[in-house]
Amino acid sequence: MIQFQSFLDHLPPEYDKYKDRLTQAIEHKMATHNDGNLRRFMKLLDNPFKQNTSHKMLDQSWVSVGKSSDLDAEQGKQLDSYIQGLMPWRKGPFELFENKIDTEWRSDFKWDRIIDKLGDLKHMNILDVGCGNGYHCLRMKAAGAKTVMGIDPAWLSVCQFQLINHFLQEPTVSVLPFTLEELPQDLKLFDMTFSMGVLYHRRSPLDHIAHLHSTLNAGGTLVLETMVIDGQLGEVLVPEGRYAQMNNIWFLPSVPTLISWCKKMGFEDVQCIEINQTSTSEQRSTQFKPGTSLQDYLDPTNPNLTIEGHPAPKRATIIAKKAKGRLKRYA
Ligand SMILES: C[S@@+](CC[C@H](N)C(=O)[O-])C[C@H]1O[C@@H](n2cnc3c(N)ncnc32)[C@H](O)[C@@H]1O
Repeated sequence: MIQFQSFLDHLPPEYDKYKDRLTQAIEHKMATHNDGNLRRFMKLLDNPFKQNTSHKMLDQSWVSVGKSSDLDAEQGKQLDSYIQGLMPWRKGPFELFENKIDTEWRSDFKWDRIIDKLGDLKHMNILDVGCGNGYHCLRMKAAGAKTVMGIDPAWLSVCQFQLINHFLQEPTVSVLPFTLEELPQDLKLFDMTFSMGVLYHRRSPLDHIAHLHSTLNAGGTLVLETMVIDGQLGEVLVPEGRYAQMNNIWFLPSVPTLISWCKKMGFEDVQCIEINQTSTSEQRSTQFKPGTSLQDYLDPTNPNLTIEGHPAPKRATIIAKKAKGRLKRYA
């Protein structure tokens, strides 16, 4: 049942130039994947039961689809096997036919911190880079977006979205199985591009910012959220070993440094709209993501330090504009 066709079929004319390339890229991905987990997920979601529901609430913390009264006992059992088979659930929370999926992250906390500062999302074509299972994509849709194209290379995330959207039936939102680097280049298509929780995973953060710039149309807005350190312009932490137990963390800039990177890569009107130290109520282990979580990655005697002695995770969100014409600095 893994399918991207209804999204492709509902793309508005702005996408016309890229639709063929997107379609080919998806076909190529599906034909060349060599991922045992994906085979397992495809088997699990081979022919899920269909159930139309009118209960679709995307504009609330627990993104909610369906009522338990919509299902019979057999369907209830099947639904449980899909949800269990797609563990761990990191981003959410969701409620599927009143089954609560309490995810590791309360992704709604991040959304609530930024949504009022983004302006109106109505009628926008939005790209969400590294969108996980698409939780924020659905919140963007609820805020009025015309289309939301999420991309994430993790098949588990793609399949979790497929399960939710199988019941939600929202053709203008999708999570496609791509890295940013695998998208057709220089799209210049989106009114708003989000990159949340991705920059610190990139070895070349300036290239990532340049790449995000190339996805936007003139006048488009970047929303960039990443981990930062306290500090002045020019300061940046590059942890040599692990950071909060993760071995794929590269650059943690200070906020002034991050702003200057965005300006260097051609963004204007760059502002930091929020800074927040991640709490153990926002990231914690749950029944749907058992095992370790933030609490285990912090120094037990000082929650402001990671277990390795680095500053504890703090995140900032930057918004910035792609210039409509010549950059002000060259005018
Ligand atoms: C920390 S999660 C952030 C998820 C979500 N954006 C959020 O803020 O909660 C980072 C995500 O980025 C994805 N990712 C990593 N490298 C990427 C790349 N080069 N292009 C797109 N996504 C990437 C990972 O698979 C992961 O799901």
